[in-house]
Amino acid sequence: MIKKLSTILILGLLTVALAAAAPGPRHVYLTWQGDTSTTMTVVFQTLTPVDDPVVYFGPDSHEKLSEYPSQTKGRPTKFPGLNRWVHFVKLTGLEPGQTYYFRAGDSKNGFSTERKFRTMASESEDVRFVTGGDMWIEPATFELMKQAASQSPQFALVGGDMAYADGKTSHVNFWDKWLDGWDKYMVTPQGYMIPMILAVGNHETRGGFGGKPEDAPYFYNFFKQDARGYFSRRLGPDIIVYVLDSGHTNPQGGAQAQWLAKEMERTQNIKNRFALYHVPLYPSYPGVFNNPYESGGRKHWGPLFDKYRLKAGFENHYHTFKRTKPLRGNKVDPAGTVYLGDGCWGRPPRKVKAQLDWYEAKTASRRHVWLVDVSGDKVHYRAMDPHGKIFDEYEN
Ligand SMILES: [Fe+2]
Repeated sequence: MIKKLSTILILGLLTVALAAAAPGPRHVYLTWQGDTSTTMTVVFQTLTPVDDPVVYFGPDSHEKLSEYPSQTKGRPTKFPGLNRWVHFVKLTGLEPGQTYYFRAGDSKNGFSTERKFRTMASESEDVRFVTGGDMWIEPATFELMKQAASQSPQFALVGGDMAYADGKTSHVNFWDKWLDGWDKYMVTPQGYMIPMILAVGNHETRGGFGGKPEDAPYFYNFFKQDARGYFSRRLGPDIIVYVLDSGHTNPQGGAQAQWLAKEMERTQNIKNRFALYHVPLYPSYPGVFNNPYESGGRKHWGPLFDKYRLKAGFENHYHTFKRTKPLRGNKVDPAGTVYLGDGCWGRPPRKVKAQLDWYEAKTASRRHVWLVDVSGDKVHYRAMDPHGKIFDEYEN
């Protein structure tokens, strides 16, 4: 009898110890596959296959999983060529402008700590977001994440060249460091996670340019925002972002340009229209203005940006700071589009041209992120360095 009791006790203790030791998911992060006011896609990863990925969630904080009023099951997806499972759990039917608390995980690996996010509002409100690209996993990458999050942005537009894994399975550790950094630092002072909207860059893609979606396995399998790699996201009633692929896994012209023409026409009455992509139409780096993907952007997208009066193009790729003059029809025009870049969220800054080009208002060899404040149809842009110093501002 005593032996039986002690066996039960040991088994019980072991179960408690195992539950306590269950590490939970390897990463937890947020993105969107559709409506930003009523859905949120919680993504988490595990290093082993699981049968029952699930997110427990609700509008209030809870101690126990069983206390959350809602749960949504995910679909386990194995990452090609790696012992890695990515679980996408799309929460739907959410209330706009509402805070939600959640825990993500499965019965074998355990669950994350409680996290929270906020859906976008469905009515006009002031919105703040951050944007930048060319990050990698340097101390400065994470300093800029901290500075960006300290400003309480509602989401982040990430313009390509995130972890520099070049689509190689042997470089998954780059993504692990990048996602660990995002999880640790991209949390607002109020404790909100910051959802990501990402564009593909050459360093997500095997071969860099001229490839297909299969060549950018992390971009498509870690995030799954849209099967094509170009799409638009509406962020409340007053903002739309056209997320484009500057020739990495889709040609800039052809189907993508045709889609963009239709989409910009369909959405032309939304007050603030932005584009996010990797390779600049108006680069600040010397000697590249007529390179194929720079001129390809000006040829296939530039006339659409002009016709439908894009407010700002968020450009990346060159590891410099840049703000152009307002441009329309390849000329300076006070009512034109401003192009902000050029991707220096961590990577060592490169030299800019010795003198400003005709289209440039300001350039610098300086790490930064852009903070963007939208209020009605007014947009205020500020460039912030890794010390939190604002060193450029613009409004349109
Ligand atoms: Fe790049």
